Amino acid sequence: MAHLKRRTISSLTSAFLLACCLTTNAAAKQQPGNANPQTSSALPGSTSGQYADADICKTCHQEVWDKHFANTPHAALLKGEQHGCQSCHGPAQAHVDGGGDPTKIIRFEKLSPAETAAICTKCHQSSLETQNFSKSAHLANGVSCTSCHSPHNSSDVNFMLAKPQTALCYGCHAAQKAEFSRPYRHRVDAGLIQCSDCHNPHGTQVGHQVRAAAGQFAVCTKCHSDTMGPFVFEHAPVKTEEGCLNCHTPHGSTNPRLLQVNNVNFLCLRCHTPNMNGAAPGAPSFHNQNAKYQACTLCHTQIHGSNFSPVFFR
Ligand code: HEC
Ligand code: HEC
Ligand code: HEC
Ligand code: HEC
Ligand code: HEC
Ligand code: HEC
Ligand code: HEC
Ligand code: HEC
Ligand code: HEC
Ligand code: HEC
Repeated sequence: MAHLKRRTISSLTSAFLLACCLTTNAAAKQQPGNANPQTSSALPGSTSGQYADADICKTCHQEVWDKHFANTPHAALLKGEQHGCQSCHGPAQAHVDGGGDPTKIIRFEKLSPAETAAICTKCHQSSLETQNFSKSAHLANGVSCTSCHSPHNSSDVNFMLAKPQTALCYGCHAAQKAEFSRPYRHRVDAGLIQCSDCHNPHGTQVGHQVRAAAGQFAVCTKCHSDTMGPFVFEHAPVKTEEGCLNCHTPHGSTNPRLLQVNNVNFLCLRCHTPNMNGAAPGAPSFHNQNAKYQACTLCHTQIHGSNFSPVFFR
């Protein structure tokens, strides 16, 4: 797993911070209330319920304020009844009274993934996009909001991502990076399509964090609408739960058209061999597999379905 680059702090400061973090962590572990991250008073660092004046942070953290906050979408938190920086870092009067006591403020690097998510989802839970995060494969594996987003130090203007999306995902998903460099692939590297076109990194209701119900394969047909039908003569496997993945791989392949297997006839004969698949008829006996009958889709061209031919010729 790749981790975000943290801003370097002087060794003097880090020694000082390290000392107090150890105490904070020890205290947090003993605290039974810590099991419930919903209450901010249980979070390590947030010991006082008093909010300081929102503007006061600027006096000591001018650089963060000017360069890493005022120009971000979260500057909206300075308006109305919001608490500015303290909307995330917790009530901080004690931190200010302590001359900047770092044990009296929420520091994200000290939080568990679930605690971080609890703070962010106070405001971001209601969105359809993020509402499944608590059940996601990412959170279950310790990947939380700040693994991907950096409210102060994002290097991508879109969605305050810590890195541009493709590099971000590849940083932890090396196997998929390799798949997208195969000869036939969705061109993620060229920016033609993004991981998030097909996946919701915040989790979904279906397996592999894929965006739409796997059974209908709407995730593919929103772009490849011509394969969707409805057709007068449907090719049954397109409409099954496996859908497109009966025949294609989603990321990349060594086979043209992202097919599962190298030779089209092998693909078809997986099902169209007598007794192989109860539902599919065997190919007719005149389909002796000499060269002429190997390239199935030369004749059965409308392989996803047809309005004219029950055997998908046109
Ligand atoms: C009187 C000066 C002062 C004020 C006012 C102040 N801070 Fe601090 N703050 C500090 C000092 C000193 C540190 C110690 C760590 C350091 O040197 O970065 C610190 C540390 C922090 C940290 C932890 C930094 C880390 O490296 O993890 C956060 C977060 C923080 N402050 C947020 C705030 C917020 C939010 C406010 C406004 C409510 C605020 N501070 C107001 C002086 C101040
Ligand atoms: C949307 C939530 C959010 C708001 C609002 C916010 N912070 Fe942070 N802050 C974070 C997170 C998350 C981190 C951990 C580092 C990161 O991921 O960028 C952090 C880290 C810090 C640090 C540690 C040094 C660093 O840059 O990593 C300081 C100091 C700090 N914040 C101060 C502030 C101040 C001052 C404000 C208001 C001007 C503020 N924060 C507003 C979420 C927030
Ligand atoms: C107190 C409420 C609040 C908290 C807590 C909060 N945010 Fe936000 N967030 C906002 C608001 C308000 C905006 C700007 C308006 C908008 O785009 O919806 C925003 C915008 C964003 C955006 C940009 C959305 C876009 O469309 O570009 C991201 C990403 C984000 N927040 C992530 C986080 C993360 C990560 C955390 C926790 C570290 C967090 N937020 C904590 C209120 C909050
Ligand atoms: C694995 C990486 C990852 C994690 C973990 C993650 N995000 Fe995101 N987030 C993204 C990406 C990528 C996008 C852009 C999605 C897109 O292009 O549609 C995004 C978009 C967003 C947006 C704007 C999209 C919208 O319409 O609402 C918000 C807000 C947001 N994330 C908040 C959060 C919060 C809060 C958490 C933690 C509870 C979180 N994210 C966890 C990667 C992540
Ligand atoms: C064209 C749509 C599409 C795109 C783009 C896409 N995926 Fe996938 N991905 C899928 C589908 C569909 C599955 C489910 C595969 C299955 O059920 O066998 C999947 C599965 C996965 C899995 C689970 C393990 C595996 O390989 O089966 C991971 C991890 C993954 N994708 C990561 C990524 C990353 C990272 C990116 C961007 C670099 C990405 N995906 C881009 C559609 C896509
Ligand atoms: C900090 C590391 C990290 C980052 C960044 C990250 N992931 Fe993941 N991702 C993981 C881990 C760990 C898992 C769970 C183990 C696994 O299935 O590989 C996971 C799981 C997944 C899964 C589900 C796999 C399954 O089989 O259910 C998908 C899909 C996925 N990630 C896509 C993405 C996408 C898209 C991005 C970029 C927006 C991204 N990830 C960024 C670490 C990361
Ligand atoms: C965001 C739009 C989008 C989504 C979603 C999408 N694709 Fe694609 N797909 C494309 C584009 C664009 C190309 C052409 C790529 C190129 O020219 O490099 C393509 C190419 C293909 C090809 C190869 C076509 C050829 O002529 O070689 C196949 C097969 C394919 N996609 C299947 C799928 C499957 C299966 C899914 C669902 C898992 C899917 N696509 C989801 C946009 C999408
Ligand atoms: C029964 C196997 C099978 C299924 C299921 C299937 N395809 Fe195909 N698909 C093929 C074959 C074989 C080709 C290559 C046709 C050729 O050689 O001309 C192909 C070609 C394609 C192409 C390239 C352009 C074209 O239309 O010829 C795209 C895009 C595509 N499929 C997308 C999809 C999508 C999206 C789904 C799910 C809705 C899907 N396929 C389901 C077998 C299948
Ligand atoms: C995952 C299994 C599967 C794969 C792979 C598959 N098919 Fe099919 N095919 C079926 C099923 C099931 C039917 C529907 C039979 C029915 O409705 O009686 C069917 C129907 C057909 C029919 C119409 C037969 C009729 O009598 O209605 C043709 C022609 C056909 N397939 C050709 C192909 C070709 C060519 C390929 C390879 C590109 C292929 N199939 C790949 C399962 C499959
Ligand atoms: C040279 C053209 C041609 C090629 C190549 C070809 N077929 Fe056919 N296929 C036909 C003809 C002609 C029929 C009979 C159509 C009819 O009954 O009207 C047929 C019918 C079928 C049927 C329907 C059988 C039934 O009982 O309903 C299936 C299934 C089938 N082919 C599968 C395949 C497979 C699998 C391949 C590749 C291994 C293939 N075809 C290659 C011409 C071809």
